[in-house]
Amino acid sequence: MFKLLRPILFSFSPETAHNIVIGLLKILSFLPIFSPLLRIFYCYKSPKLEKEVMGIKFKNPIGLAAGFDKNGEVYNQLSDFGFGFIEIGSLTPNEQIGNPKPRCFRLLPDRAIINRMGINNKGVKFAVTRLKDKKSRTVVGANIIKSTSSANDQAPQDYEKSFAQLYDFVDYFVVNVSCPNVKGVTKLQDINSLSEIVDRLTTLRKYFDEYRPILLKVSPDLTFEQLDEIIDLILVSGMDGIVATNTTISREFLTSPSDRVEFIGDGGLSGAPLYRKSLEVVQYIHNKTSGQLPIIAVGGIMTPKQAKEMIDSGASLVQIYTGFIYNGPGFVRRILRHLAKNS
Ligand SMILES: Cc1cc2nc3c(=O)[nH]c(=O)nc-3n(C[C@H](O)[C@H](O)[C@H](O)COP(=O)(O)O)c2cc1C
Repeated sequence: MFKLLRPILFSFSPETAHNIVIGLLKILSFLPIFSPLLRIFYCYKSPKLEKEVMGIKFKNPIGLAAGFDKNGEVYNQLSDFGFGFIEIGSLTPNEQIGNPKPRCFRLLPDRAIINRMGINNKGVKFAVTRLKDKKSRTVVGANIIKSTSSANDQAPQDYEKSFAQLYDFVDYFVVNVSCPNVKGVTKLQDINSLSEIVDRLTTLRKYFDEYRPILLKVSPDLTFEQLDEIIDLILVSGMDGIVATNTTISREFLTSPSDRVEFIGDGGLSGAPLYRKSLEVVQYIHNKTSGQLPIIAVGGIMTPKQAKEMIDSGASLVQIYTGFIYNGPGFVRRILRHLAKNS
């Protein structure tokens, strides 16, 4: 069915296609038959796929990466496509409109996307209302980031605000310091900036009754020296894991015409060309920490074999985004079947 639907969706700009899908999921969910039907077609269950990571029970290790359900509007409908967890966000303390359009582009020959969305989102309050309204049927993580208008020295307060408001409504947090599309954000990966953010969140967490894991999402463009510092900080700080990786600013390994790539301009690249780099980062972190740090692997996973390779390389969990766009909703089930068969 996606073979028929894909050319229609791909005839729209990526952002319009995305909004159509979110709108359809919202409308169709009013039909009582919709969710059971999706689950029959797309879900794949096997005890072999169940996992406990960071104290959370996952029905399977395949999640939807941040940026798809930015506002926490359709996480239940998305879970009906078979995902074991959904990461909402990135969310900022207040609503922001993001960068001027167009800001998201497909590179079809590369099975890739370049985006410079600039963290358009409706803000934490809106997401909390959605999370309160619709009890989640799956594990939900919240990815948080500073407001674009906040200077980097105000960033810790931004993360703190979002963290406190979302705490009772999600299962884990991801601190996004690796978005290449918001000025200054990747600088927050510098160890001094990062320490303050991490200290504030781990301290605040002590005031809550229940424990929520906190993970850090890193860029694939860090040097290994920078990664070493970050890993050391995570290990001593009481953070619980790492999400590797976000999109890259590199334009290596592209086969699309260079004038098209130049015309698109700035933005984070995701999809097939990112895979090798993300895998390398996952392997590096796994080896460096002797497998002690939970890793959520994300970046360029376009085939079930690649998802398995990430797990074999040390990832506890895996997320997809661009692979879901190019391969369609049946992709999750295909990965799960492959994992169950080969476990
Ligand atoms: C259109 C788009 C929007 C994204 N928005 C976010 C975001 O808001 N926060 C975030 O942490 N990552 C965001 N990402 C990055 C993805 O979560 C993921 O890390 C990246 O795309 C690499 O995975 P993939 O190759 O499977 O897409 C976005 C990616 C895309 C394509």
